[in-house]
Amino acid sequence: MSDQAVRRKPVQIGDLRRWKREGRRFAMLTAYDYTTASWLDQAGIPILLVGDSVGGVVLGHLLRDGAYDTVPVTLEDILHHAKAVARGARHPLLVGDLPFISYRLGLDEATRSAGRLLQEGGMQAVKLEGGGPMIEVVGHLVERGIPVMGHLGLTPQSVHAMGGLRAQGRDDEGASRIRDALTGLEQAGAFAVVLEGMPSALAAELTAATSLPTIGIGAGAACDGQVLVVHDMLGLTIGPVPKFVKRYAALGEEIAEAARRFQAEVESGTFPDPEHSYG
Ligand code: KIV
Repeated sequence: MSDQAVRRKPVQIGDLRRWKREGRRFAMLTAYDYTTASWLDQAGIPILLVGDSVGGVVLGHLLRDGAYDTVPVTLEDILHHAKAVARGARHPLLVGDLPFISYRLGLDEATRSAGRLLQEGGMQAVKLEGGGPMIEVVGHLVERGIPVMGHLGLTPQSVHAMGGLRAQGRDDEGASRIRDALTGLEQAGAFAVVLEGMPSALAAELTAATSLPTIGIGAGAACDGQVLVVHDMLGLTIGPVPKFVKRYAALGEEIAEAARRFQAEVESGTFPDPEHSYG
């Protein structure tokens, strides 16, 4: 590990508000395993999210149209991956996603679920989706010392209620629902909010109006930070990706090509050669 990585201070939730005040943009990526988390830490990514997107990209849960499905993800799934990420990442702020249902059965259940992500999963904060009745849950967790990141706009756990994974806030009514939810999250004490799948102009307006650091995904360039699913940005995802995804690598093709070369060398008898064999 480089000297710079060794000297870095672990990121705290208060850093995000300071970065917003200073106009300093920041990146968040998802991570689900020890190795990837270690590399992302070494790269200096300040926030890692153990997202319920693990359901699609790692566990292969898909909706009927082939898009990722987060609904089947359980608290045990998130805990399993959170523990691995926490072993690999020492500097980033670690945020664990509360999966569907785990925080919707009542305030005590939400506290228990969130508490497990901190106690057993090694996370420093949790994320949960939605406004409306979820605002009370956020306030309840924050009062009990559990930092909460909100998530508004396209909230994939509500895919069936939304009638598909579609951008939100495109009409006046939808936009004002998101505005109200953001005000509610701010008052309830959330420390940041993900804005997903909404018009760039709305995300820009919300970012300017709120003291909460906003982290965009499919919400334009004006958000304080940006997040992507790590498999999407590395080019590992099977099948089409949403319009907002930029691929920074093509690791899927590299994996397939390396596997083909290995297979060819095994079949031709050129692997292992003397260099890779014990004398
Ligand atoms: O689960 C996830 O990966 C997320 C991000 C897309 C924000 O919630």
